[in-house]
Amino acid sequence: MFDQLSSLPPDPILGLMAAYRADSNPNKIDLGVGVYKDETGTTPVMKAVKAAESRLLSTQNSKAYVGPVGLDTFNDSVAELVFGKELTRKLGARRVTFQTPGGCGGLRLAAEFIQRIKPGSRILVSDPTWANHVPLLGDAGLEIETYPYYDRGCHSIRFDEMMAVLANAGPNDLVLLHGCCHNPCGADLTTEQWQAVATLADKNGFIPFIDLAYHGLGDGLDEDAYGLRLLAETVPEMIVVNSCSKNFGLYRERTGGLSIITTSEQSSRAAASQVAAIARGIYSMPPDHGASVVAEILQDDTLRQQWDNELREVRQRINALRSQLVTALKARQVAEDFSFIEREKGMFSFLGLSVAQVQTLVTDYSVYLVDSSRINVAGINNSNIDYLADAIANVVAS
Ligand code: LMR
Repeated sequence: MFDQLSSLPPDPILGLMAAYRADSNPNKIDLGVGVYKDETGTTPVMKAVKAAESRLLSTQNSKAYVGPVGLDTFNDSVAELVFGKELTRKLGARRVTFQTPGGCGGLRLAAEFIQRIKPGSRILVSDPTWANHVPLLGDAGLEIETYPYYDRGCHSIRFDEMMAVLANAGPNDLVLLHGCCHNPCGADLTTEQWQAVATLADKNGFIPFIDLAYHGLGDGLDEDAYGLRLLAETVPEMIVVNSCSKNFGLYRERTGGLSIITTSEQSSRAAASQVAAIARGIYSMPPDHGASVVAEILQDDTLRQQWDNELREVRQRINALRSQLVTALKARQVAEDFSFIEREKGMFSFLGLSVAQVQTLVTDYSVYLVDSSRINVAGINNSNIDYLADAIANVVAS
């Protein structure tokens, strides 16, 4: 059965991790996979997470199954984190939230849910979007199409073109929107643009499907949720997937959530039963540890405050690195204007380089980044920023 198998190329993002590890250049820089790194280049366990883990260790007295939808305490507290207290109360039983194995698990679960109730539904994703959206949604059977989003030449959102395409989306379509900190381009919709999208979604009836993977890494927890909360107040039906990988630093614990908003309590109950059955058929139930940690943090005032502070530091450091990189490139008098990096949000921005230029950065300078020239800004630090700016300046000049 396995004799004729051919090997697949490495994943375009995860493959960089192995290539970086194998590189013996002491100056190597990892700007590939989207994990936060501190000034020392490590991805720390947050102090609030450590504290929650030690509490769990001493208080948890059972490892019995939890069930396909996960922990109620996680689902309730994550819903409030995503939608805010007031809106969560307002949505009431129209909203259901499920614990999922990371944001990826949530995306796939949602795609399987749509495929089950309306096979072959169309989902419009931004051009560009995160590479893994395509297998996560498409392999479930959804038909993927794109809408224009980012102009790589002007480093701005192609909003008019985006709206012109979305104007043709209707009640049988889903539209995937990045809640904040767009991956890969870092360019987010303004409040006015979100308002226009919400009005159009309500008028045309397409279902907004929000991927909220970087909540709190842009402008703040409430600011980053502005668009999705506006949509949730405006449209009758909606899907939101959130990840706790980045904002809680829980990457390997696979912790995320899927929220579905329907028009009635009865529809939500029906949706919940479908989603639980799908989860049971794929992975039975989500892993517990990360979700227990998140619930512990969000339900305890002291831990919550500590986590808020740590997340603020992460956000501020990323924003400062963006400014520092722009300054460092300006100081090298590169012809290109990189100031857009300072305007963009979250971990990622495109440098705007060709694949050949990216390859030169990798092979000649050991600077690792995705072929699209997406960089993880959090991989920069005070010790590597000059080397990085020199490398970029050399590559764009040659
Ligand atoms: C990324 O885009 O680098 C992250 O979301 C990690 C991943 O799984 O690709």
